[in-house]
Amino acid sequence: MELFLILSRENETLPLAELEAVLNAEKIDYHLEIVEQGIIKLKTLEDISLLLGKRMGYAHEISQFITESNPHKIPQIFSKIKWKDILGPDFAIRVKQIGCTKDIDCQEMEKELGNIVKKMVGDKSKVKLEKPSTFIRVLITNSLALIGVRKVKIDKKHFFDLKPHKRPFFYPGSMSPKLARCMVNLSQIIPGDLLLDPFCGTGGILIEAGIIGACVVGTDIDEKMVQGTKENLKYYHIKDFKVLKSDARYLKLDEKVKAVVTDPPYGISASTAGEDSGKIYKEFLESVSDNLKEDGRICIATPHYVDLNDLLNDTPFKLVDRHEIRMHKSLTRVISVLVKE
Ligand SMILES: C[S@@+](CC[C@H](N)C(=O)[O-])C[C@H]1O[C@@H](n2cnc3c(N)ncnc32)[C@H](O)[C@@H]1O
Repeated sequence: MELFLILSRENETLPLAELEAVLNAEKIDYHLEIVEQGIIKLKTLEDISLLLGKRMGYAHEISQFITESNPHKIPQIFSKIKWKDILGPDFAIRVKQIGCTKDIDCQEMEKELGNIVKKMVGDKSKVKLEKPSTFIRVLITNSLALIGVRKVKIDKKHFFDLKPHKRPFFYPGSMSPKLARCMVNLSQIIPGDLLLDPFCGTGGILIEAGIIGACVVGTDIDEKMVQGTKENLKYYHIKDFKVLKSDARYLKLDEKVKAVVTDPPYGISASTAGEDSGKIYKEFLESVSDNLKEDGRICIATPHYVDLNDLLNDTPFKLVDRHEIRMHKSLTRVISVLVKE
């Protein structure tokens, strides 16, 4: 099956890395082509649109590819498509332009294409702009137009409703649910795997991991956070969880985990209980190794001023992926993926 995806363009590298991590985690055979930043064509053996829609944080929509054309020849190509075989009882056509050259009037084109399709299908399918059974997506990029049927629109409401201040237990310093979801995906877990956040705070990472079906363990040095995370996990109906009061530098879990995904304190707004954050990271990395399976991964957020490579000396971990998110003038967040050497 051939799909095309519109990924988020809020970060240059994370959305594509997230997509590749999900495909690898789910052991999907795929061929991927970058049309331009944020626009991806993907060939797979099976239909994985629902799976991607359920997992991805930094994606907007997923369509089944029908054909492609020169952006200025869309009507000609449209009239060659066998719409009778494709459409359900009703349809809508939406044209979206992405990239720098925005020289096409999308609304005019929707009308023109609608008329072409109506003539071709007659009474077999009616135009219905709200919730049509077939949503035809025309995506115009700088170099080409992709034509397809939208299969999944990623629910923005989900990430909005899960924003930290909407949870029953709130504490400043929690990351956005989208980034938490992306980090969980970068750890390449699949449903049923065990994931640990040793600096769990209000539980943002554990909520996202729980939603995609992971079993989650959280620890925090602060009892208030432990109780708050439990409350938040229950509120979002996450069932398979354990939250314990523990110091991440001296962890001893009963069972080894498949992934560690975490956002340790930066020594700015989050509490480090008076300790230097670099020292905490080093000690945490030394202790977490015994709790992580040999093929497990760590996905960790650090501030730009912590040199993770330096901290990895004398630990069993190596850095395999690294992304930057500029938060504001004086803080860039670095998202790193580590594996055991
Ligand atoms: C940046 S916050 C985590 C935010 C979290 N991702 C969330 O969504 O709320 C860091 C957390 O680490 C905890 N912490 C600080 N030092 C710790 C240690 N040595 N062991 C375990 N937790 C610690 C703090 O209590 C704080 O809740």
